[in-house]
This record gives sequence, C-alpha cells and structure tokens, in this order.
Amino acid sequence: MKVPETMKAVVFRAGVALDDPKAAEWAELPVVPPGGYDVLVQVAAVAMNPVDTKVRGTREAVLGFDAAGTVLAVGPEVMGVSPGDEVYYAGSISRQGSNATYQLVDSRILARAPRGIGPAAAAALPLTTLTAWESLFDRLGIDPEGADSGRSLLVIGGAGGVGSIAIQLAKIAGLRVIATASRPESSEWCRSLGADAVVDHHGDLLVQMAAAGFPQVDFIANFNRTDEYWKLMGDLIAPQGKLVLIVEPTGDLPLGGEYKRKSAVIAWEFMFTRPLFGTEDLARQGEILARMSEWVEAGKIRSTFAENLGPICPENLVEGHRRILSGRTVGKLVLEGWD
Ligand SMILES: NC(=O)c1ccc[n+]([C@@H]2O[C@H](COP(=O)([O-])OP(=O)(O)OC[C@H]3O[C@@H](n4cnc5c(N)ncnc54)[C@H](OP(=O)(O)O)[C@@H]3O)[C@@H](O)[C@H]2O)c1
Repeated sequence: MKVPETMKAVVFRAGVALDDPKAAEWAELPVVPPGGYDVLVQVAAVAMNPVDTKVRGTREAVLGFDAAGTVLAVGPEVMGVSPGDEVYYAGSISRQGSNATYQLVDSRILARAPRGIGPAAAAALPLTTLTAWESLFDRLGIDPEGADSGRSLLVIGGAGGVGSIAIQLAKIAGLRVIATASRPESSEWCRSLGADAVVDHHGDLLVQMAAAGFPQVDFIANFNRTDEYWKLMGDLIAPQGKLVLIVEPTGDLPLGGEYKRKSAVIAWEFMFTRPLFGTEDLARQGEILARMSEWVEAGKIRSTFAENLGPICPENLVEGHRRILSGRTVGKLVLEGWD
C-alpha cells in the first residue's frame, strides 16, 4: 500500500485541565516514510498507561505507549518484518506515540501480535509485558524455566497493568505469589490470574503477610509508590532477598538499615531504557514480545484487556486519562478503531 502523506493524530497539551476541550485535540500531521530499522504501522488499537498521564504533565505530545496494528512499509535495514504483518509494541518514550493513525517504530522492539485474540487484547499487553518481564527475569534474575520454583514473591499493586502480567509470569516460573489488592474486584482479579494469596495494601501488610504464612519473602516487585512501601519492604525482604522498583520516589530514601543488614539487592526497572539509549541488547524487547505471543497463543498467559473505551479520539483518550488518574483500574483500558 502507498504511504499516505498525512495522518490524523490526537495531541495532548501540557498544563491544560482535562475538562478543558483544548486538553486534547485532533491534528493533521505529515507521515514520514520509514528509514533504517523503522517500520510504519497503521495503528488499530491502543492501551492506556500511567506514563500517558505523566508525560502529559510535561510537554505537548502525541501520547500512547501501547499499540497493535498492521505494518504498512519497512525501512531498508529491517529484517523479518514485512508489510501486512500484524504487530504489537510499546515503542519509545522519546518518539511520537501511538495515538495517531500511523506510527514509526523500531522493528527490533516489536513482535508479531498474538494470533486469534484481536487488536484490542493485543494492544493491552506490550508495555506491561516488557516491564513485568524485565523486572522479574532481567532485574531480579528469576529463572523463567523454574530454577527458582517455590521461592516467594510479593507483588505490590497486583491488579494494575504491570502486576497483572507479573503475577502470571511468576506463576509460570513456579513462584509462590502474594499480591496486594484493596477491593473485592481487584482481589478476585489477582486470584484469577494465579496469585496464591492476596493482602490488602490499605491494611497492615506485615500482619497480613505473617497470617498468610509469609513473614518474609525472597523477592518483592513494587509496582506502586516506592516511598510509601520503603520501610515495609525492608522489614519484609528476606536476608539476601531482592526487590525491584518501577516508580520514581518523590524524595530521598535511606539506603541502609534493614536493606544493609540483610544484604538486600535493590534493582530499578524502566522499560524505556533499552529504546531510549539504543542499548546493544535492544532487540531483546522484540524477543520478549515474541515469546509473550507464543505464551498467549498456548493459553499460558491471559491478555489483561479489561475494558474497551471506544474508538481512538480526544474524548475517549481524555476519559482514559481520568480513569488512570483514579488509581483504581483493574487490568488494561483499551481504545480501538478511529472515530
Ligand atoms: N518503570 C517502568 O518502566 C514502569 C512501567 C510501567 C508502569 N510504571 C509505573 O508503575 C505504576 C503502576 O503502573 P500500572 O500500569 O500497573 O498502574 P495501574 O494499572 O494504573 O494500577 C492500578 C492499580 O493500582 C492499585 N493501587 C492503587 N493504589 C495503590 C497503593 N497505594 N498501593 C498498591 N497498589 C495500589 C490499584 O489496586 P486496588 O484497586 O486494589 O487498590 C489498581 O488496581 C505507575 O506509577 C506507572 O507509571 C513504571
């Protein structure tokens, strides 16, 4: 198919309140043909993420960091991806996002979308898959093949987008998983994904963890506020245990105390690190998504797609931002098709 000259995109403006109609508006932008390792994708569905709301506060941008769509054209260096392929990806925080009818993406960080689930369920997966996978397997060093079977993992924020994938990946690796959730629907969601126990992050977690048989855990994946759980994580981590963080703290945190006494390993995960710095192992993100497609097709992983907010347009994206900011979403919110 011929590359069109222009595309429709939704532009969010920084510093404009969400209830102001100028917060998000349609724009007509030029389409740039793909060069190098890039492919041009015709976007079919996008998913919402907290990073949309965080970037919105800093600059005017075409947001969207999760998409499924069809490859329209490929750059000269691209191997293994062809026009017509149905793909999914998170993309890069330093480039135009997926809230546009067309998007350039580096072919090394995308993969063929899982077959048979449709674009909405596929778009729900990439960003949280990369975050959860890199957190557990790359940063905490958990063996996906089962060498760490029986060890314990606390997932803080179990029903969120990232937690929902992490619970499933950890169960594939054979871990005993305790997830936090504060409401009946989010607790039930975590159990349905395989969590062995659910504790309420609004209650006393030390008491609940002990009652559930886990006074300490080998691993902690904190997918929510880092500061809020700092003291608690130091108390709960087992000697020589490991924890991974994904949320920027709001202030300085004391590194010593229990963390030092226990020789705990503290790791950071930022899923945009590889695309942002163009690291040598950039293509690992494509490999992770390809493996995820196989696991979804084999029924080992369930898409965390929870609700379709309708077509991709300013009004529905603004509603998506509102819902993310509530902090009470379960699984993933998706928008599909164009208005
Ligand atoms: N570093 C990275 O690469 C990276 C990647 C992805 C996300 N993130 C960040 O990680 C955070 C989570 O992302 P997400 O997509 O999983 O978010 P999300 O889907 O918006 O998370 C919603 C969930 O958060 C839970 N929650 C609300 N308040 C909580 C609290 N005080 N303690 C524990 N859980 C709480 C809620 O559970 P209940 O309803 O049960 O309370 C809800 O199910 C965001 O800040 C996001 O920006 C970072």
